[in-house]
Amino acid sequence: MQALQKLLANNRAWAATMLTEDPLFFEKLTHQQTPAYLWIGCSDSRVPATQLVGLLPGDMFVHRNVANVVVHSDLNCLSVLHYAVDVLKVQHVIVCGHYGCGGVQAALRNSTFGLIDNWLRHVQDVRHKHSALLASMTDEDHKLNRLCELNVIEQVVNVSQTTIVHGAWERGQQLAVHGWIYGLHDGLLHDLHMTATSQQEVGDQYAQAIADRNTLLAER
Ligand code: CO
Repeated sequence: MQALQKLLANNRAWAATMLTEDPLFFEKLTHQQTPAYLWIGCSDSRVPATQLVGLLPGDMFVHRNVANVVVHSDLNCLSVLHYAVDVLKVQHVIVCGHYGCGGVQAALRNSTFGLIDNWLRHVQDVRHKHSALLASMTDEDHKLNRLCELNVIEQVVNVSQTTIVHGAWERGQQLAVHGWIYGLHDGLLHDLHMTATSQQEVGDQYAQAIADRNTLLAER
């Protein structure tokens, strides 16, 4: 219980600090949220979405799951995406993976943990899709990091192919879907240059992003 008391004390201190900076901070947030961003990231405790991009409560809508996977039949993720795009009118959806992802590593090594293996089948699908590229790599860490990148790229495509994003683009709503990856070792985000602002762009950006992965491979 001691540990939980510490959390509650931390919270009181945090709320007090926020009020010293802006006495109306919480009052303003009770009226509405107008985030410009939706973050779809990994549940990993080392990748705290809002904190690592320096945003405040109210600035970013967030969905996190193990290995930042976007599955076409996942009602949870689709509901978040729907609310963010259709109601909150976010302008950017950021799919953010991270290097050294345990979920991606489990998918790569065929590790078995139980129920979660079924969820990580989606990452294994990515692995199988890009088996030739991955098979040409010998260093296990490089292979893992490349699969972390490929997983983000594929999830950007999955977001872009939802009825929600299709609909937004057809209506002419301004919406960009981005693929980023975070380095646990240095705290830095990297743009994977997989950004789509229209249906046409998805295919072009995907082809380029995969080609870039092959180029990186050749240089290594
Ligand atoms: Co992870």
